Amino acid sequence: MQKDFPACSTTPGKGFSEYGQPSTFESNTKRTIAKAYGDLAPGTGSARTPLEKLTYQGPKLGQLASANDVKRFDISVGPDGINLPMGIGTPKSGELVYTNKCQSCHGEKGQGKPADALIGGINSLAGNKPIRTVGSFWPYATTLFDYTRRAMPLNSPKSLNNDEVYAVSAYILFLNGIVTEEFEVNEKTLASIQMPNRNGFIDYSQRPREP
Ligand code: HEC
Repeated sequence: MQKDFPACSTTPGKGFSEYGQPSTFESNTKRTIAKAYGDLAPGTGSARTPLEKLTYQGPKLGQLASANDVKRFDISVGPDGINLPMGIGTPKSGELVYTNKCQSCHGEKGQGKPADALIGGINSLAGNKPIRTVGSFWPYATTLFDYTRRAMPLNSPKSLNNDEVYAVSAYILFLNGIVTEEFEVNEKTLASIQMPNRNGFIDYSQRPREP
């Protein structure tokens, strides 16, 4: 669910802006145009002043994002755990989140179907049939938190609170045999979890150069 976006007023005649508060861009434009045309305060002349006409031709691309708008999207967590929010969860508390919010797409205990399996495939990557899952493929547990927080559940992203994201991450790690059932996942312990494929990636920039 999208929320917190200020409603756009389409009522014309509210000064020179159609969107409630004039943006900095509009204010600057107004100043520039007003300078060029002299004093053209809206509403003092006939139906429309040249200033209003010009402003109505603007691109109307919306408002500047507020600090609050940006905050909702500024949630990237680094592999080393940088920017992880405070919170805590265990596989036990995560099981409930998983059953209610994830199982319908990812299957019982993360086995998959209709969407991706979230378990299994550990040690399969070098074989003939590599199975890539969070457990077998992802090198950092912090990515599981970051991805789940921003993108899952698919039908309602960003609807889980931080404790729920920690908990469901803990549960998925537990299902993969990476942490024990009692393990507390929080902003400090998550980055310390050693994922099975942590060292399986090759730094392509360091490859030997062809002659
Ligand atoms: C409505 C269906 C749906 C629900 C509910 C859902 N997911 Fe997903 N999930 C998907 C789909 C589809 C993908 C693949 C998305 C893609 O590849 O872009 C996915 C991908 C993922 C992945 C990445 C898997 C990989 O190996 O790349 C993870 C992790 C994940 N989901 C976790 C969760 C968690 C945790 C929940 C519950 C909080 C959840 N999902 C709920 C549909 C769902």
